[in-house]
Amino acid sequence: MEVIIQPNRETAALLAARITAHEIRGNPHLALGLATGKTMERVYGNLVLMHREARLDFSLCRTFNLDEYVGLFPADPHSYRHYMDEHLFRHVNIDPRNTHLPNGMAADLEAECRHYEALIQRFGGIDFQLLGIGKAGHIGFNEPLSALRSRTRVKALTPTTIAQNAPEFGGTDKVPRRAITMGVGTIMDSRRCLLLATGHSKAEVVAQAVEGPITSMVTASALQLHPRCTVIVDQDAAGKLREKDYYRWIFENEPEWEEYR
Ligand code: GLP
Repeated sequence: MEVIIQPNRETAALLAARITAHEIRGNPHLALGLATGKTMERVYGNLVLMHREARLDFSLCRTFNLDEYVGLFPADPHSYRHYMDEHLFRHVNIDPRNTHLPNGMAADLEAECRHYEALIQRFGGIDFQLLGIGKAGHIGFNEPLSALRSRTRVKALTPTTIAQNAPEFGGTDKVPRRAITMGVGTIMDSRRCLLLATGHSKAEVVAQAVEGPITSMVTASALQLHPRCTVIVDQDAAGKLREKDYYRWIFENEPEWEEYR
């Protein structure tokens, strides 16, 4: 893992967007894994600007989202399909046929999960996966005790996650209880991944994921085993990390990061 500490949530999201744009420019056919949540909104905002102002081209990209709620139609304003359309897809030149999310309305949810895994495989696997982190330490909706080798499947959401997402739905009772999510194993198969976390509320869980033991109680900790994982945090989310000075030294001195400093 590489940890990059940025001064604030804006610079952290901008850096995540710049790295994503670099990946797209390096491989126009990129299979791009996408995440949702408040944190990602700033990343997508920056990508939209880069499309408008710097001709960032999504026309050949294929996207695969991490997850989708069970029981919501794509047009539902709370669905992740709707989120993606609003924050990214309809503002850039991506072909809607190349954008993929699990179908939370499938009659046979297990078949839908197998289909989603097969689809990712058919396109050669995910090249670059964007990730947020939930307050329960989850990536995608891989809640505590998710098998670290799990594949796409239906997961029941924890009370912590339901409470975290309740404001979007206007109350805890309105949040779907289940979601289809890529498994930890699916995410681990991506060639590169980038986790972005900002704000005080993520400090504890970031420290557990980055510096704590690898455990299914904090599924983001599995990323410690990923060969190419970058974690970007702002000062607030970095608050409980022990090795901050070391991470800062690496970002300031290693040639790999020169163009981003
Ligand atoms: C949801 C998503 C996760 C995301 C998390 C963080 O649980 N399924 O993929 O990482 O929200 O959301 P936020 O950025 O709003 O804190």
